Amino acid sequence: MRNLNLIGLDTTDSLEVAVGLNKLLSNFQIYYQTLRGLHWNIKGNNFFELHLKFEELYIDAHEKIDLLAERILTLGQTPHHTFSDYLSNSIIKEGKNISNGQKGVEFIIESLKTLLTLERQTLIVANKLEDEGTISLLTDFINLQEKQVWMFNAWLQS
Ligand SMILES: [Fe+2]
Repeated sequence: MRNLNLIGLDTTDSLEVAVGLNKLLSNFQIYYQTLRGLHWNIKGNNFFELHLKFEELYIDAHEKIDLLAERILTLGQTPHHTFSDYLSNSIIKEGKNISNGQKGVEFIIESLKTLLTLERQTLIVANKLEDEGTISLLTDFINLQEKQVWMFNAWLQS
């Protein structure tokens, strides 16, 4: 007999989804902290434009981090919550001392691509489990991030 969790999903498969979400959470945390650094350290003619844009991005990432952690809890698992777990589970590497606008935007595009890859991988598992809550969460993330990749790439062409 299948073992179901509190929200009626298969416990073993939910664990697999939660592992994917925890990896995504870890990557988001490194992305988020680097965005804070970009907001603080950016220099040059585009300062006012990028300073504000980076703030907009880290506020958005902050909200998504909370949604991810609470989805993991809803699935009956524990979200990573320490810096050591974030660092060891993140593919995105910390960005340090980035003050150049172009380098900052390149970091953002590469990070978004990594997040999109992880989201699509976790979606495959969530689809198998018919976990609509996780599917709709990740679909919303993907929609916005794909648009962000287009916009930041357009900015780089200037
Ligand atoms: Fe600020």
